[in-house]
Amino acid sequence: MGVETKNKAATAKPAHPNVWVFYEGEFARYHDRRLGLMTHALHYGTGVFEGIRAYWNQKQNQLFLLQPVAHFDRMKRSANVMRMTLPYSTEELVNYTIELLRRNEFKSDVYVRPLLYTSSEEIGVRLHNLDHSFFIYAIPFGNYVEVESGIRCMVSSWRRVPDQALPARAKITGSYAQSALAKSEANEGGFDEAIVLTVDGHVSEGSAENLFLLKDGAFITPPVTDDILEGVTRGLLIKMIKDELNVPVIERSIDRTELYTCDELLLCGTGAQISPVIEVDRRPIGNGKVGEFTQELQNIYFGAVRGEAPKYKDWSIPIF
Ligand SMILES: Cc1ncc(COP(=O)(O)O)c(C=O)c1O
Repeated sequence: MGVETKNKAATAKPAHPNVWVFYEGEFARYHDRRLGLMTHALHYGTGVFEGIRAYWNQKQNQLFLLQPVAHFDRMKRSANVMRMTLPYSTEELVNYTIELLRRNEFKSDVYVRPLLYTSSEEIGVRLHNLDHSFFIYAIPFGNYVEVESGIRCMVSSWRRVPDQALPARAKITGSYAQSALAKSEANEGGFDEAIVLTVDGHVSEGSAENLFLLKDGAFITPPVTDDILEGVTRGLLIKMIKDELNVPVIERSIDRTELYTCDELLLCGTGAQISPVIEVDRRPIGNGKVGEFTQELQNIYFGAVRGEAPKYKDWSIPIF
């Protein structure tokens, strides 16, 4: 047993050994960088991170980096909650990300993951008097959840961590243990995704997505005070729903049973993109098929993120 474990560790290979990463102020290969066993963030969840997508457009031979400024601005705010400081300005971070994508010569959809974490190798739970490190890696990435035929969700038995305990508004690595509990409960129970309620029983969000439902001719989404991550995609959709569909958007608390009685439901996020929900807790949503408005929104969104809609040119930065 001991020998087997040792061999496994010795032969463990990183998933993407040769990709370029930006680590501690310089570009390096993924496999040339290792973290110490005692790294504080690994034990205590003391890091803040982002997830950013870049979309490949085959026709234009171009890669479009989506909303990097919004993501790095949010990261700065997350860092502040955790008594950390990003070592670069948003502009510098965007430029390093562009350089990283160029170096890797990606010709596919890509996921970009910046992480600011407590790198001190010492025991002791706290935020103060510790060292921090920063890196960005990027890897080819397809769909995180199904986006075409619609997904089946369950309302999780796990509640969202309240702002009073661990602020969901900050994208803190440790908070994602809660998302992992919810996601695995859903997947292992035969569902695609979890919808998580606040401690007082209102709908908060998916395990890694914000949520919109359509009811009586308006889209409704939980307010930022219902323990959600203030999603970049959520912000884009609020504008798009009003501008493109001419449908009002209401930010208000949502009861659990409104999930069962709405006409359309969708989850959204950088990873999830726009994912139509066709069933919750074994109850069909609307007619049990992808909703008409959701479909239209998704068509416009996918065109925009791939750099095909001049109107949304300012959403992305072309890399090559
Ligand atoms: C918990 C949670 N909510 C919402 C989102 C959606 O946020 P964004 O659209 O900024 O990716 C994410 C995605 O990272 C998330 O992890």
